[in-house]
Amino acid sequence: MRERRTVLDYKPEKVEKGLLLELFNYASYAPNHHMKQPWKIKLYEDDARSPFGEKVVNSYIRLGLLKTKNEEKLNKARLAYDRFFTSVPHHALFYMEKEDDGGYLDDENFAAVCAFIQNFQLAAWEKGIGTMWTAKKTLLDEVFIRDIGLTPEKHKLIAVVQIGYPNKIPRMKERAPIEESIEWIKERDI
Ligand SMILES: Cc1cc2nc3c(=O)[nH]c(=O)nc-3n(C[C@H](O)[C@H](O)[C@H](O)COP(=O)(O)O)c2cc1C
Repeated sequence: MRERRTVLDYKPEKVEKGLLLELFNYASYAPNHHMKQPWKIKLYEDDARSPFGEKVVNSYIRLGLLKTKNEEKLNKARLAYDRFFTSVPHHALFYMEKEDDGGYLDDENFAAVCAFIQNFQLAAWEKGIGTMWTAKKTLLDEVFIRDIGLTPEKHKLIAVVQIGYPNKIPRMKERAPIEESIEWIKERDI
């Protein structure tokens, strides 16, 4: 848990499909209410990476997350994103089916998928595989959701996770003393 790092820079080799399946299988032991196992994954690999990256960048532009002064700068930014998307062997998009349109059941399922993702990240790290959990407003962009073949009324996107063998492992980011986050409550009169 302490040693896992968010990896930005990956080697080009793919992770073997059987190993990815093993890791997703470990991840599925995540806690989930009523055993709904709400996790769904779309894996973008090989030639699917570039068009997937293009859909992401189109969403950034639509949402004003990528502001460019002119066409030339925009093309340069598109190229840089394409290089990034094609430099990472696997992009996993995690999503779930909505049950009560943003209500409590959806919160529960969302939490379970997040637990699944963290399990996956830790199991991957154990095998020398790096990941990067990304979440931007794009996950709420209805045009993007349709663009990847899902339905905004039915599906909630949760994260895009990059996966591959690390080329460079970033430095550890120190955490705040944990005591700052905890309040011990022991008296009867609360
Ligand atoms: C919900 C969520 C969204 C994140 N989104 C991004 C992101 O968009 N870009 C990014 O570089 N890292 C993203 N991260 C990774 C964090 O930046 C990273 O976990 C944090 O900096 C601590 O670094 P570490 O994971 O190496 O310990 C995200 C993590 C979570 C849990």
